[in-house]
Amino acid sequence: MLTIRNQLPASPGTPALPDQLGFGRVFTDAMFVQDYSAQAGWHDARIVPYQPLVLDPAAQAFHSGQMVFDGTKAYRRPDGNINLFRVERNAQRFERSAQRMGMPAPAWEDHVEAIVALVRAQAHWVPHQPGAALYIRPVLIGVEPTLEVRSARGFLHYIILSPVGPYFGGGFEPVSVYVSHDYVRAVRGGTGEAKTPGNYAGSLYATEQANARGHQQVLWLDAVERRYVDEVGAMNIAFVYQGRHIRTPALSGSILAGVTRESILQLAPDLGFTIEEARIDFEEVLRDAENGTITEAFGMGTGAVIAPVGRLVYQGREVILNGFEPGPAARTLYEALTAIQYGRRPDPYGWTRVVEATEAGSV
Ligand SMILES: Cc1ncc(COP(=O)(O)O)c(C=O)c1O
Repeated sequence: MLTIRNQLPASPGTPALPDQLGFGRVFTDAMFVQDYSAQAGWHDARIVPYQPLVLDPAAQAFHSGQMVFDGTKAYRRPDGNINLFRVERNAQRFERSAQRMGMPAPAWEDHVEAIVALVRAQAHWVPHQPGAALYIRPVLIGVEPTLEVRSARGFLHYIILSPVGPYFGGGFEPVSVYVSHDYVRAVRGGTGEAKTPGNYAGSLYATEQANARGHQQVLWLDAVERRYVDEVGAMNIAFVYQGRHIRTPALSGSILAGVTRESILQLAPDLGFTIEEARIDFEEVLRDAENGTITEAFGMGTGAVIAPVGRLVYQGREVILNGFEPGPAARTLYEALTAIQYGRRPDPYGWTRVVEATEAGSV
């Protein structure tokens, strides 16, 4: 069991939330921190006022990029309490990401305890507006000052919280997707399965170019043959065949194992869909979207939960899906999953964990 010192002022501050929260622009007034040294292991777990980090300019993270992060959300329930959604799966992925990047991860059970304690202390920051939530961002970085290219011997694990608004400000809107041929995101055997910042930094240039052409997201193909579908932006992708059959790329080693993806794969059969994890040839996707066999596509991720794909553009070819309207499968799955996340419907899967809102300020 993790011992966490509470270093917050006795009475919690009042959240000052703007009307438009946006995504990841506003942060709460507390954070979790713990340190690692080769001699002491993980130690000094504490919840402190939100504050800048003081790091040596030679900190290993800045030079060798030894960093991982993750993201999950806490949701306000109708009874005023708070739901954490599959926080164990995120903590386990954090541990796997750290391992891939040669870092000593805190045990996932301790990581979950840290998240629960922080959310409990900051329960008053979980927004009440429909579609809003408290985004939880754990980070692990190498802090030892060294320019040697090797694993650091000192690490920092911290968790910050961001109240976020509905991902779709103006409703459930489809996104336009640019399929990248020139750039790739990750290669099997590389770090695509790990949630490490380099994967995201490497995607920004292509994303900027796609944005300049009027698309919101980039769809990444496999790095070797540039033919098989990997994922879309920071989401996993699924294609819906004739309204009922959901196909998503199998976890190949270059794709992040999304918790939303995993949840949809478990939920969809209970809603009458069939599911398939496969190697998906993008040429076949274009053909099936053009001939109408593919009726919809959508991205799956913590931020948007489900993001309908309205258009795919690849080397001068364009297909519009479902008339650039959110499709019925995307709507059904979005409603079903968000109802569980927000506690509007019973959770038969054991995915949610309730944090009592009355505990605000306690650790
Ligand atoms: C590259 C990438 N793929 C997929 C996902 C979706 O994962 P999750 O559903 O766990 O948020 C994310 C977000 O974490 C991501 O960054």
